[in-house]
Amino acid sequence: MASITIRRPDDWHLHLRDGDIMRAVLPYTAAVFGRAIVMPNLIPPVTTKETAIAYRNRILKALPPGHRFEPLMTYYLTDATDDDDLREGFEEGVFAAAKLYPAGATTNSESGVTSVERIYPILETMQKLGMPLLVHGEVVDSDVDVFDREAVFIDRVLDPLRKDLPDLRIVFEHVTTAEAVDYVQANSEGLGATITPHHLVINRNSMFRGGLRPHMYCLPVAKRENHRLALRAAATSADHRFFLGTDSAPHPSRDKESDCGCAGIFNAPTAMSCLAQIFDEENALGCLEAFTSLNGARFYGLPVNDDTVTLTKAAEPIANPDPVSIADDEIRVFAPMAPNYWVVEVDDEAQLVNDAGLTSRSATSV
Ligand code: NCD
Ligand code: ZN
Repeated sequence: MASITIRRPDDWHLHLRDGDIMRAVLPYTAAVFGRAIVMPNLIPPVTTKETAIAYRNRILKALPPGHRFEPLMTYYLTDATDDDDLREGFEEGVFAAAKLYPAGATTNSESGVTSVERIYPILETMQKLGMPLLVHGEVVDSDVDVFDREAVFIDRVLDPLRKDLPDLRIVFEHVTTAEAVDYVQANSEGLGATITPHHLVINRNSMFRGGLRPHMYCLPVAKRENHRLALRAAATSADHRFFLGTDSAPHPSRDKESDCGCAGIFNAPTAMSCLAQIFDEENALGCLEAFTSLNGARFYGLPVNDDTVTLTKAAEPIANPDPVSIADDEIRVFAPMAPNYWVVEVDDEAQLVNDAGLTSRSATSV
């Protein structure tokens, strides 16, 4: 029976939502991950320091007793972002980063940025502050095929932006293409990329296997097999520019199984066991810790977690998790269509109740 102990992972791209859904999904992340970059695409979005502090406090309040977890908040950039609020929020430690959603690119992105040039003054401020910009890297132009949106984004938006603001630290979020992998590899320190577990497992056929599979639909949409293989190679290479962002994005089943089903895959409960399975298949278990627990902290200039998790390969495949119940519906959990043998356990030390530490940490950093 193989077993591997690694530093506790962090999730550098997570949708926690709010209210009942947040209370239902948060324990799955907080049980395993030490920190998460929390996406701001609520309705209405998190566009001010004040709303971010309030959201952070709601998350901390919803944490189950005994879970040590630090939410790292993000600022939702709009055409009207207030420079002073953003700067203060970053300097006071409220925000770890700001998120650029091209308007209309994905779930709850309607208030996003209509053109990157419009927010150049803000981006210049962020460059000076060393505040990371997280980009949803897809163009929304109607002439661009949905499967090409990421690759076109590199040429039309990301590369010109890198040339204009070379010192701006950027995370190219949830990359899904070989073009994105190549672009990140060709660039220097200031550009990182997150990769989701599901994009390492599914390709675009997975959405159409025997019929339409709404629970395999997310944005950026899964691409052809050659792209999945490029992502696998990047994630398992220990290249410090690539790190885990689950993009776990819960939606009630009725919203996914509808005439116009929404994008997002909820993978928080299975993310780490999926990754262990993937790294095992690639004979790269020795590189798992870099991807899940070291590279992201390095990009954000944060210390790595002190505690550990242990992943153990069971003799039989593990069961697929049940859906998570919410008030009048349920949320389906991402499960690969192939057997997974890996069980995740957080080591004792990480389970130590440290309410006092958490409370004082949150009080000083917000
Ligand atoms: C995300 C969501 O549901 O908020 N959906 C998704 O398909 N990934 C938004 C996003 O990150 O694009
Ligand atoms: Zn996302």
